[in-house]
Amino acid sequence: MINEKIAKLINTQVNKELYSGYLYLDFANYYADEGLDGFAHWYEIQAQEERDHAMMMRRYLIDNGIKVTFEKIDKPDKTFSKMDAPLKAGYEHEQYVTSLINNIYAEAAKIHDYKTMQFLDWFIKEQGEEEKNAEDMLKKFQLFGHDAKGLYSLNQELAARVYTPSTTGPAM
Ligand code: FEO
Repeated sequence: MINEKIAKLINTQVNKELYSGYLYLDFANYYADEGLDGFAHWYEIQAQEERDHAMMMRRYLIDNGIKVTFEKIDKPDKTFSKMDAPLKAGYEHEQYVTSLINNIYAEAAKIHDYKTMQFLDWFIKEQGEEEKNAEDMLKKFQLFGHDAKGLYSLNQELAARVYTPSTTGPAM
């Protein structure tokens, strides 16, 4: 059994991960509308990964005897006027998610909940990777995205992303 406060934080994080997926699908909608199908594809896959994160957390709660409860998922509320705006918003969003995961970890550490700390280890590493991916995409866009050929190549590169369910992460 895990502590009530920790369970509540993880339950909230399930919602946050589902929201992340919803947000990235919204980015995909924006890029699809702009004719950048590679960018749209990249965010569609990112949305799938976010759903996986939510499923891992949901499974952890269930496996620890906690009843999962769902709240409303917020509407993505951003409108974009520049093509790099979603990339910036995505980078900022991942930094925010990292702070949320770190907070759960800190709360688990306070009460010596080593099981939850170990469960969260994968997410801490994953957040490092997600922040780096988001930052790299933004940097690449700033370097190459303002020229038609550069944007075309970048779109092709992002179109090649393949969804692969994690083999190292917690069970879903
Ligand atoms: Fe599930 Fe992008 O953090």
